[in-house]
Amino acid sequence: MQPNVTPFFHSATGTWTYVVSDPTTREAAVIDPVLDYDWRSGRTGTASADAVLAHLAAGGLRVRWILETHAHADHLSCAPHLQAKAGGQIAIGQGIRQVQATFKRIFGLGDEFEPDGRQFDRLLADGDTIDLGELQGRVIATPGHTSDSVSYLFGDALFVGDTIFMPDGGSARCDFPGGDAGVLYHSVQRLYALPPATRVFVCHDYSPGGRPPRCETTIGEQRTANIHVKADTHEGDFVAMRHARDATLDVPNLIIPSVQVNIRAGHLPPAGSDGVSYLKVPLNVLGRPLS
Ligand SMILES: [Fe+2]
Repeated sequence: MQPNVTPFFHSATGTWTYVVSDPTTREAAVIDPVLDYDWRSGRTGTASADAVLAHLAAGGLRVRWILETHAHADHLSCAPHLQAKAGGQIAIGQGIRQVQATFKRIFGLGDEFEPDGRQFDRLLADGDTIDLGELQGRVIATPGHTSDSVSYLFGDALFVGDTIFMPDGGSARCDFPGGDAGVLYHSVQRLYALPPATRVFVCHDYSPGGRPPRCETTIGEQRTANIHVKADTHEGDFVAMRHARDATLDVPNLIIPSVQVNIRAGHLPPAGSDGVSYLKVPLNVLGRPLS
């Protein structure tokens, strides 16, 4: 039994959200939903997530899971809005606890924030299974980009998060706290051991060369055509490439709001006495000194 997969592209952040469903029972999982965010005004919006909700309603799909592939640094999660409207359990890899501890320190968060994963309904470990009607998903821990990164395999459909991009996009950066290029290399090798026909769905696409956004490839194509890591790429070469490339990359536009929301499973920080939720900006902590 193979799942139905419907992609949704969030053009402002280059993010792909997926609805995965069991054709028989119409049970569904939403992977990596996006909360719209205007960095100029600090406004959030749910238009993108509401398009996902409309698709769920139109297809008579029942949400069982809202799955994060990791705590994203480039977009805010809309998991709580989806859960409020459509139900489902919010889950992420158990490595989120390390990510939470790291960013609790970086953002100077107080005792109100516990870095123990309690903000999520379920923390997933490598090899865990996810029931979705008559389908059974499998969690494959794929750390390296972040320590909480996981991939989800439902039937022949693999959702890789930021483990790898489309073949012409290569791989994701490994220079965030907890990132490790050597670890990512071994995560990719685990995915490359899956059958070549396995469908691969990526979390981001930045339209390299100006081509239209794409979201789907195969393990076979990645093994032979990924510009950063092919099946026969040596670990040392990959790590050296990744280190050199990461040294040139700017901090993601939305890392400051994204991480503070995403380590809370998509919830905004608790409102102050004025009823307003605030984000913090750690000065001179992230990125490189200005030249
Ligand atoms: Fe990411």
